[in-house]
Amino acid sequence: MSRAFKIAPSILSADFTRLGEEVRRIEQAGADLIHFDVMDGHFVPNLSFGIPVLESVRKITALPLDVHLMIDEPARYLEQFVRAGANSISVHAEVCEDIPGIAYRMHQLGIHAAIAINPETEPTRVLDAAAHLDMILVMSVHPGFGGQGFIPESIGKVQAIRHELQRHGLEVDVEIDGGIKVDNIGLVAQAGANVFVSGSGIFGHRDYAEIIRQMREELQARSAGRTIGGDQEKSG
Ligand code: DX5
Ligand code: ZN
Repeated sequence: MSRAFKIAPSILSADFTRLGEEVRRIEQAGADLIHFDVMDGHFVPNLSFGIPVLESVRKITALPLDVHLMIDEPARYLEQFVRAGANSISVHAEVCEDIPGIAYRMHQLGIHAAIAINPETEPTRVLDAAAHLDMILVMSVHPGFGGQGFIPESIGKVQAIRHELQRHGLEVDVEIDGGIKVDNIGLVAQAGANVFVSGSGIFGHRDYAEIIRQMREELQARSAGRTIGGDQEKSG
């Protein structure tokens, strides 16, 4: 199996006083995507940033912009986010009645279609429509804030989702978001995730390139069927 692993730093944890420099640094450090967390103060109890900031980020990077809409009525804003430069958009299943319908609209707009599920939302909610999707985003914290602890039950959820996707022969990306760090990225990869959002796990360090390098090392080790730095010694 050679599913590509992608590391998606969440700029929610960046230093906004110098956002341009942060985006450049994360790009140079080898990020695959930039994760862009939009919050409306209704769907989640916090506000972040929106369309004008996305437009500004679009001007200074060629990396794909992975927009995570933690907002009510996401369908109202899809087109504006695409015009502002989104390459993929995740809409929450909890506020989306017609998943195939919204995925169809996203594809019409020329972007990748993703559906996100909160920790308390059952995987079936999104698996039933998986054939219409490019990606499923599994929240491993309650959305709204960076820097929270990873919810361990998310591992089993990722496993169950990947298992069902494989059973139906579907090559859908599984993105994990919340509390991802060097010390748990390997486990989540082993469970079947292949896109890894990390905010504080990357921006909380001085050397972004070094942290991303360590994350890739963990991913490589897991995909080679062994572990490093811990539970199981490499033999030979
Ligand atoms: C949480 C956001 C996440 C957040 C992740 O609501 O969706 O993308 O930025 O931050 P960390 O990696 O610090 O948990
Ligand atoms: Zn997010």
